[in-house]
Amino acid sequence: MAENEPCFTKPRYHGVSPALDDAYRLIEAAGIFYRGQLVGTAASVDPKAPAENYADCFVRDFFPVGLILLLENRADVVRSFLHLIMQLRGQQEELEGQQIAPGVMPASFRVQRNDRGEEEVLADFGDRAIGRVAPVDSMMWWSMLLYAYVQYTGDLDFAHSPEIQRMLRMILSLCLQSRFEVFPTLLVPDASFMIDRRMGVNGHPIEIQALFNATLRCASLLLPEQGSQWLVDLAQRRRNVLRSYVQQYYWLDMDALNRIYRFETEMLGVNIENLFNIHPESIPLWIQDWLPDGAGFFVGNLGPGRMDFRFFAQGNLLMLATGMATTAQAQALTSLIEQRWNDLLGRVPMKLVYPAVEGDEWRLITGSDPKNIPWSYHNGGNWPVMIWPLVAATIKAGRMDLAERAWQMVEPRLFADRWPEYYDGRLGRLVGRRANIGQVWSAAGLLLARYFLDEPSLLERLGFDEKLDEATESAEE
Ligand code: GLC
Repeated sequence: MAENEPCFTKPRYHGVSPALDDAYRLIEAAGIFYRGQLVGTAASVDPKAPAENYADCFVRDFFPVGLILLLENRADVVRSFLHLIMQLRGQQEELEGQQIAPGVMPASFRVQRNDRGEEEVLADFGDRAIGRVAPVDSMMWWSMLLYAYVQYTGDLDFAHSPEIQRMLRMILSLCLQSRFEVFPTLLVPDASFMIDRRMGVNGHPIEIQALFNATLRCASLLLPEQGSQWLVDLAQRRRNVLRSYVQQYYWLDMDALNRIYRFETEMLGVNIENLFNIHPESIPLWIQDWLPDGAGFFVGNLGPGRMDFRFFAQGNLLMLATGMATTAQAQALTSLIEQRWNDLLGRVPMKLVYPAVEGDEWRLITGSDPKNIPWSYHNGGNWPVMIWPLVAATIKAGRMDLAERAWQMVEPRLFADRWPEYYDGRLGRLVGRRANIGQVWSAAGLLLARYFLDEPSLLERLGFDEKLDEATESAEE
C-alpha cells in the first residue's frame, strides 16, 4: 500500500455516528509507515503530548487497533506489525555484565530518517523510556495478537514460518524459566506493563498473570516436530496450575475476607491455611465496608506476607475475557462492577486502580510521583481504553446490559473531549491533568467495544474463545 492511501475503506461503522467516524479518522491519522507499508499507529497524535515517545507505536497500545484492522480486512497490516516487532529484537542493547533475555520485545518503536535520508526503525526496549522500565507485557500482547491473527484469518502458514516459531519458542522459554520461584505465577519488576511507572506493582501482579496465561496458550501454535514438544507440554502443565492457583488464592469475597481476618500466622508445613503468612493487620480499613455481599474480585498482587487489596481493572477484566476465571467468579465480579459503579466506572469507564494511594503511602509507593497523585493517571485515574476489556469481560459473564450501559455513557464524552488518554478525580469527571488528547487506544477501545457489542461471536473469532472454567471451584472448598 502506498503511503497516503487510506487504511480503511468504508469501515463497518462508517457514517453511523460522528464519534465513530472520528475514531476511524484518528486511527488513520496515527498511521506509521515503513517502506510504504502501514506497520503501526502512534500512541497519540497530540503535538503537545507530555513525552516525545507518544509519537511511537507501542506494542500494547496497538493491540486493540490490530484487532480492528483484522475486522476491517487489513490483516496485512497486522502481519507486517508482528513481523517488524520480531525483527527489532536485534536492536536490544547489551548491558555490561548482563546477559539480555532473548524474547523481550520493545515497548515501542518509531520510524525515522537517518542522516542519509533513509528510513530506519528505532526500538525502545526500556532503554529510552522514562524510568527505564522493562516492558514484560510486550511479548505477551504480541503473542495474543499473533493468536488472534491466526484464529481470524486461518493463516497457519505465517505462524509456522521458521522465524515466528523461533520467536514463540524464545518467548515461552523465557516465561517458563525457573529462577528463584516457588509460585506458578510470573515474577516481574515494578512498572513492567501498562502501569509503567513506580506504583508498587512489582511481584506477581494480576494483569501479568492473566497475560501470562494467554501467552502460554500460544504454545498450541508451535510445531511439535521441530523439537518443541517438551515446551508445549510444559506450557500446558504450567497453565493448569497457574489457573487454579490464581482462581483460588487471588480471589477475594466476603467469605475469603472473613477467613483472612481470622488467619493464624507463623504457620509451618504443607497443609496450612495461611500459606503466604498474610497478617490480618495488613487488611486495609476501606475493604470491609466496600466489598458487597455476593461480589468479589481478584486482588492485585500476592506474595510472602503480602496481599495487595487494591482493585486493578485490566487484570480483573482479562481474567474474564480470556476465560481464566470460574463462572461464579465472573458473576461475582460483574456484580461488584454493578454495585460499585461510581467507584470503578464513574463517568468514564474505567478506573485503572481503586482506590488511590494517598499521603505517606503515595510517597513511599510512587516515590512522590506528581503524575501519579491520588485519583490521577495510574493512581486512580479513569482510562477510556478499558472499555474494550470491560465489554469483552461482561459479555463473557453474560452481562451485556452493563457493557451497553458503559458504552453509551462514554461514547459522547470521549468524542466531545477529543479522545483523552485518561480522566482524573474520584468519578473521572476531569480530563486528566497531563493527559494527551488524540490518544489512539482510547478511540480504538471504543470502536472495538462496539464491534463486540453488536457481534459477540467476534470475541471467539479473535482468540477470546476459552470458556469460563468451573473445574477448580471444588478445590476451594
Ligand atoms: C503511558 C502508559 C502506557 C502506554 C503509553 C502509550 O506510558 O502508562 O501504558 O502504553 O503511555 O500510550
